Amino acid sequence: MAPPRENQASSGAATDLDFDAIIIGAGMSGLYQLYRLRELGLRVRVFEAGTGVGGTWYWNRYPGARFDSESYSYGYSFSKELLEEWDWSEHFAGQPETLRYINRVADKFRLRDDIRFRSKVTAAIYHDDTRHWDVTLEDGSRFRTRFLITAIGPLSAPTMPRIEGVDTFKGKSFHTARWPHQPVDFTGKRVAVIGTGATGVQTIQTIARDVGHLTVFQRTPNWCAPLHNSKIDAETQKKIKAGYPEMFKRCQETFACFVHTPDPRGTFEVSDEEREAFFEKLYASPGFGIWQGNFRDILIDRKANALISDFEHTLSIDDNSRNYALKPRLNQFDIQGLDRSKREGGVLGVYLLFDDPTRTVITIYFLNQEPPKRFHNMQEYAAIRDRFLNEYTSCVRKALIANQESAPTQPPAHP
Ligand SMILES: Cc1cc2nc3c(=O)[nH]c(=O)nc-3n(C[C@H](O)[C@H](O)[C@H](O)COP(=O)(O)OP(=O)(O)OC[C@H]3O[C@@H](n4cnc5c(N)ncnc54)[C@H](O)[C@@H]3O)c2cc1C
Ligand SMILES: NC(=O)c1ccc[n+]([C@@H]2O[C@H](COP(=O)([O-])OP(=O)(O)OC[C@H]3O[C@@H](n4cnc5c(N)ncnc54)[C@H](OP(=O)(O)O)[C@@H]3O)[C@@H](O)[C@H]2O)c1
Repeated sequence: MAPPRENQASSGAATDLDFDAIIIGAGMSGLYQLYRLRELGLRVRVFEAGTGVGGTWYWNRYPGARFDSESYSYGYSFSKELLEEWDWSEHFAGQPETLRYINRVADKFRLRDDIRFRSKVTAAIYHDDTRHWDVTLEDGSRFRTRFLITAIGPLSAPTMPRIEGVDTFKGKSFHTARWPHQPVDFTGKRVAVIGTGATGVQTIQTIARDVGHLTVFQRTPNWCAPLHNSKIDAETQKKIKAGYPEMFKRCQETFACFVHTPDPRGTFEVSDEEREAFFEKLYASPGFGIWQGNFRDILIDRKANALISDFEHTLSIDDNSRNYALKPRLNQFDIQGLDRSKREGGVLGVYLLFDDPTRTVITIYFLNQEPPKRFHNMQEYAAIRDRFLNEYTSCVRKALIANQESAPTQPPAHP
């Protein structure tokens, strides 16, 4: 423990403080803390490990990174002027736009004046007797402060793969949360992605357009739904701005600070038809409505939850584009066949490029199958694949009959 400095008031409180408050991290939270504490007249310093502001949006520059929050609900609400000035271009902005926004905020409020970049905090020790913190940086420098605010983010420390032999890999490798600042060109390359969480899903569906071949290693399948993202036109922009006070008020009241509010009805308080129609409506709506705007008991009543899971087994037709979207949970994985322009949301497990049926670009390795770890058993793989293709074909047929459409694109042959 570092010894406290000598100079302190008779009350015991240290008086030779470097700052009144130190904030660790210059992400959305740290920047806001800085703004507020400066408003209170405190001497504040932010220490940030990275070279710029933005936190999550500074580090996560991987292809396809974007909001699942509505952009306008994610922005700061503290400055009317800022709200008026900033136009989000899409309902769910991509990472570059969000990073531009955060930089704009930092510039507008001159936040950088009180931020020191490339400054990782390695220790913070509180001294009871003098009521101050001793904060140490990686380079050994030390600072004394009355208040310490850790705005280090819940998701800022990446988990590096603990895979035997990973160090001997000769190709290029990247972690999504430590992505290079320059774009990486995957055109025609053989690429493997480990993981199908939100990040993996966004990356996969974005780079699948360019790669020569993509191999996906999936351990635990996730459930995904289309994001239904779109540009914000001038009229909508005006409405969003006019509705800011009400929207922020609503966000304060919802459980995740999103714009979606649960439906007050219970899942079984409506008829089967009504329920199905409601699920369809949510599935076709942008964002997290299907999760956060669903029946009030959908996440806590097992039977209700089973119904929404079952719903995901059914087929829906995107009437606007005449593309066929499977929203299934076929055994261990989900699939979705959408054309490129529509493949903006979540896709899970199996990704097939329907726009070029002769080309199969993706191989999935189901790491949670038996035998686990690596999928060497091609028979098992073939059986799952065939079952998927059969189910796919029969779903499409059903939809065709129902909608009297012309034949859909055939699914591509598998390797
Ligand atoms: C890819 C991705 C997409 C997301 N999308 C959404 C979304 O759509 N909606 C939503 O609500 N949330 C989303 N999140 C969650 C997101 O993390 C939060 O919304 C928010 O950005 C967190 O801000 P923060 O300032 O608390 O933390 P961060 O943005 O994580 O910032 C923390 C900062 O602290 C710095 N730091 C950490 N430790 C130290 C140290 N010891 N010394 C110095 N600096 C340090 C880091 O370098 C980082 O810059 C997403 C997260 C990820 C990873
Ligand atoms: N738009 C958005 O809002 C957005 C976008 C991206 C990320 N995020 C958030 O950021 C956080 C991190 O997301 P993330 O996707 O980066 O991480 P994550 O949710 O932890 O997912 C990591 C994935 O990698 C898999 N994995 C880990 N080690 C593996 C191994 N050795 N072999 C095979 N698979 C392995 C995991 O499988 P297991 O589950 O089996 O461990 C999981 O599928 C989440 O909270 C997410 O919601 C949000």
